[in-house]
Amino acid sequence: MGDFLFLCIMIVMSIYNFVRSHSIQNLTHLKGKKVLLRLDLNISLGNNETVDPGEDWRILKSLDTISFLCEQGASVVILSHIGRDPQKSLRPVFEYMKQFFTIGFIPSYDSSLVRDLLSDMKEGSILMMENVRQNKEEKEDNINYLSDLIEYCDIYVNDAFAVSHREHASVHAVTNYLPCYFGLQFVDEVKHLSLFFEKQEGAKTLILGGAKFSTKLPLLKKFIAKIDYVLLGGALANVFLKEKGFKIGSSFYDDSVDISSLVENNKIIIPIDYIDQHGDVADIHDVRDQDSILDLGPETCNIFETIIDASSMVMWNGPLGKYEDGFTESSLRVADSIAHGSAYSLTGGGDTSTVILENNLEDNFDFISTGGGAMLEFLIQETLPCIEVIKNKKEA
Ligand code: 3PG
Ligand code: MG
Repeated sequence: MGDFLFLCIMIVMSIYNFVRSHSIQNLTHLKGKKVLLRLDLNISLGNNETVDPGEDWRILKSLDTISFLCEQGASVVILSHIGRDPQKSLRPVFEYMKQFFTIGFIPSYDSSLVRDLLSDMKEGSILMMENVRQNKEEKEDNINYLSDLIEYCDIYVNDAFAVSHREHASVHAVTNYLPCYFGLQFVDEVKHLSLFFEKQEGAKTLILGGAKFSTKLPLLKKFIAKIDYVLLGGALANVFLKEKGFKIGSSFYDDSVDISSLVENNKIIIPIDYIDQHGDVADIHDVRDQDSILDLGPETCNIFETIIDASSMVMWNGPLGKYEDGFTESSLRVADSIAHGSAYSLTGGGDTSTVILENNLEDNFDFISTGGGAMLEFLIQETLPCIEVIKNKKEA
């Protein structure tokens, strides 16, 4: 095993040990305590601004931590963001949560309202605050708007892995003011994603798709020497095709990235056929100016399936065709072969999770991360800013 990989394993295992040793599961005196619980309930709402049952997966992944805290006799104040529009309300998520818990909603961070409602909380009771991003201080990592909550709560729990790559007040600065722990989902995320650093007996395969290369390129560069195959689809594959001299016609293409060090690497498998804007299959040598590569063709899928079948670990992030426009075939075939193969399977990212959940394949995946950007950043950095801030505090 190379020194580099050994070092990565050491670092990531020490992060996992730190997170695990600060899990809420180790807390024995929660009875009567008020817990400020940061979740990531950032989900897409349906047309009528309600939670569509297909989009509730981040909510479902939060339920265990809430139940655990309440069963131990704590009362829980939930914080989360939703969307990027600061006007957006968490109320639809609150309405959805009512089917699982008796829960109240605090529509603003007004000091007297917060103080009144928090001072009255009973053991096992739950309140949800409005979208933290309605406060401009949230993104400035300024806890002023949280000061009443900090004063009334006894401990802080981060179970919002998916936003823990952001230095925002409710995941980052807040940790300086309360004793801090990690929720059950957070510990599970770090545990499973850390497995990707471990040495495998068989082949390790990374499957990357989607449109944005800027976050995935560092991942590819970091792991290329340590993995056996990289299967590329989506707009990422177009960058490689173009660099190799293939015509890509009118296909979407990100020219901001430098892949020169990777382009000749024969671990990277790119499409040999594709599906165009009319849904027709063609050879990758036959792309005309007016054509767009919108999905992988069947021959490419066959190759991908063979490699997946021969792998012992697979990490997948990003749909392989333009899934949202109906070019779903290759993503479905890949999802299906991972689901029914024997490789240990890790995946994440909103769009990839949608492919898996829409097709009811979730039980066949070993781990589906709630993180998109956070998952990629954890794999690249082997930690996240919101883990480091707690770790540094403990070390101080
Ligand atoms: C996500 O959906 O990736 C997280 O909730 C973070 O959201 P953000 O990208 O808007 O910060
Ligand atoms: Mg499996």
